[in-house]
Amino acid sequence: MKFDNKVVIVTGASSGIGLACAKAFIAKNSKVVMAARSEDTLKKLSHEFECQGGKCIYIKTDVTIEEDCKRLVDETIKKYGRIDILINNAGISMRALLKDVKIEVLKKVMDVNFWGTVYCTKFALPYIQESKGTIVGISSIAGFHGLPGRTAYSASKAAMQGFLESVRIENLKKGVQVLILSAGFTSSNIRMNALDADGNPQIETPLPEERLTSPDRVARNVLRSIRKRKRNRIMTAEGQLMIFFQRIIPVLVDNTIYRKFKNEPNSPLQE
Ligand SMILES: NC(=O)c1ccc[n+]([C@@H]2O[C@H](COP(=O)([O-])OP(=O)(O)OC[C@H]3O[C@@H](n4cnc5c(N)ncnc54)[C@H](OP(=O)(O)O)[C@@H]3O)[C@@H](O)[C@H]2O)c1
Repeated sequence: MKFDNKVVIVTGASSGIGLACAKAFIAKNSKVVMAARSEDTLKKLSHEFECQGGKCIYIKTDVTIEEDCKRLVDETIKKYGRIDILINNAGISMRALLKDVKIEVLKKVMDVNFWGTVYCTKFALPYIQESKGTIVGISSIAGFHGLPGRTAYSASKAAMQGFLESVRIENLKKGVQVLILSAGFTSSNIRMNALDADGNPQIETPLPEERLTSPDRVARNVLRSIRKRKRNRIMTAEGQLMIFFQRIIPVLVDNTIYRKFKNEPNSPLQE
């Protein structure tokens, strides 16, 4: 697939992987629609990317609000007349044990990661069927195996994957590509914004962000996987090994994950 003049919606385009995807598609001469809640950031980015000529626009969108997602699709059609690629990237994480976390935190994570994907995909689907385009879900190995302290995050990614797999099969004969790309640990704001037990951003990251994968590398993988019409892409060897061993020695996988997450600074498992 060539990307020039393709119309691409990226949710969560104000930061991290979404921002890197928006930049990468703009560099390929796509028409990019950047969606997120932070209007000021999007406005600044649209100046930086010189969107004025029509190569990109931004639409303030909270993906937990169904009407916002409908407006995102409607305004994209009004501006560009078609949708070729939808990148369901907007996401938040959490870090707290189930025994401590407020139920509303779990619902918030599901609302953004799962329902945000459902709304945007549902409204964009007729146009993507028309263009024989692509729906992408930015997922995580948390969607394949539950992670401790991340109950809702793991549930939301597993739910998103199940949802997108069903959409893929429903559209098998319609020329629509559905790509689920699972990134590894990537340097971004996700851990700073991850919700604690009370729903506040945890502010500090437990990981050495400077040593993690760059969002630009994830974006390159997204574009390459779309071009190759891939179904699934698991970006790290660690993730691929986990998924392989999960079927044959699941207890070992549980114990390895437990150790890894217990050893993180300030891990809730250390209590
Ligand atoms: N970083 C990693 O290690 C990693 C690994 C695997 C998968 N992922 C996945 O990658 C995706 C992007 O995360 P990231 O690492 O790039 O994190 P990030 O830097 O925190 O970016 C998250 C993006 O999502 C947007 N967002 C959050 N809530 C939203 C809402 N209600 N409506 C619309 N947009 C919303 C944020 O924008 P606003 O705040 O402006 O709305 C921001 O643009 C997520 O789905 C995440 O689960 C990340």
